[in-house]
Amino acid sequence: MICVSKKKSYLKSQNLKIFGQGKLNGIVEISGAKNSALVLLAASLLTNEKIVLHNVPRLTDIEKMCNILRNLGVNVIEKNNKLELDSQNISIEELPYELVKGLRASFFCIGPLLSKFGEAKVPLPGGCNIGSRPIDEHINGLKALGAEILIEEGIVKAKIKGEKSKLIGTHLKLNCPSVGATETLIMAASLAEGRTTIENAAREPEVQDLCQMLNKMGAKIYDSGKEKIIIDGVNKLGGCIHKVIPDRIEAGTFLITAAATSSSITISPVIPNHLEAVTNTLQKSGSKITIKGNSITINPKELKAVNINTAPFPGFPTDLQAPFTALMTIANGESKITETIFENRMNHVHLLNKMGANIKLNKNVASIKGVNTIYGMDLIASDLRSSAALIIAGIIAKGSSRIYGLEHLDRGYENFESKLKILGIKIKREFVERGFTNKEYKISSNTDEIPKTRAA
Ligand code: UD1
Repeated sequence: MICVSKKKSYLKSQNLKIFGQGKLNGIVEISGAKNSALVLLAASLLTNEKIVLHNVPRLTDIEKMCNILRNLGVNVIEKNNKLELDSQNISIEELPYELVKGLRASFFCIGPLLSKFGEAKVPLPGGCNIGSRPIDEHINGLKALGAEILIEEGIVKAKIKGEKSKLIGTHLKLNCPSVGATETLIMAASLAEGRTTIENAAREPEVQDLCQMLNKMGAKIYDSGKEKIIIDGVNKLGGCIHKVIPDRIEAGTFLITAAATSSSITISPVIPNHLEAVTNTLQKSGSKITIKGNSITINPKELKAVNINTAPFPGFPTDLQAPFTALMTIANGESKITETIFENRMNHVHLLNKMGANIKLNKNVASIKGVNTIYGMDLIASDLRSSAALIIAGIIAKGSSRIYGLEHLDRGYENFESKLKILGIKIKREFVERGFTNKEYKISSNTDEIPKTRAA
């Protein structure tokens, strides 16, 4: 299923200037997980009591989600990385498209609103430009739980069928272990009548974090992290205090950057078993990994080519495929990287080739012949994880680079350049005096043209 998004790259007036051939050294603090925090924010809609979330990363995606909640009437108080959420006065107004566009996680609101109020109207979600990203698993699951769903003019309108005021627990089997669908259905089922089982459920740590928080709120969810999750619906959920788990994708990005620059660093706090597929792969490619409590130290020795296939957790995460591809461009030997989760997640490949990498792309398989050197240049990132890959490439490269498209990076990496700076990388955010129009950049939906449009 190959689907190339027609969405244009958004160009802003900021870039990261990176002086290449950098080295990292020291300890880096890992932020809270974006993908956990987003769904936990939506879960706060399930109760009238206060939810306090700690370790919430300050990211544009989180800000957007808070604005969506505010629009529904949630009182959101932000204090550094702590958020207090009070949903006692919410209404089920239709969410404005302007607020939800570009944030796939906005769709998470449908489960809590439907199970709490019996109806919900949520626009079809946007999100990263990495594939068609259907929502059929969410919709089919909600229907099986007793919702009537209509999609009209881009709005998903869900209502509990008949005179009933509650969703009814049932047996669900997902066709693919979708993270988002598993989370939507868990939230919906937590206030349903009776037992729901979800087979072929996603086992990602963020799903487990959601279940942990819901259980603190009084839900009865068993076996999260397993392939079959059981949810016994309850009448009411209460408030709680919860700390978001560390971001395994941010953590993996730093480990990969260290491996790419033969640098020893320690990342902390992390939950090492969330990163097992990544640390195992880094070990195979020549790095020494030392795990001590909630920290991981990497000592790269040599950089050997290794093959990866992305896979649902506990497999190698698709969110680290682009950064790992950047690493393999300078590895010794040939590697094959196969993207199995998303159909359009190779946006970085042609850009890495522009920098001097030798990658042949055949659909979702990138065959990489390691080269000695790649060269810095000005590039435009077109999705979140490829922006991290380009920054890693800029750090490895000879010469300097400017990476544009930071609106993607800022969605998912908290203080990325400050953290890199602390580790010793020469990197700075530049603000050019004015933004560029699409015309000036000669933007095309043919992504091959993007690298030709070098930044001014
Ligand atoms: C979440 C993460 C994202 C990560 C992805 C896979 C969030 C906010 N985002 O995205 O960072 O890359 O998991 O680990 O948590 N699919 C369907 N029908 C559906 C739903 C999904 O066919 O109804 C397909 C998708 O097209 C994709 C695959 O399932 O091919 C996995 O998607 P999914 O796990 O749902 O990803 P998200 O929840 O969108």
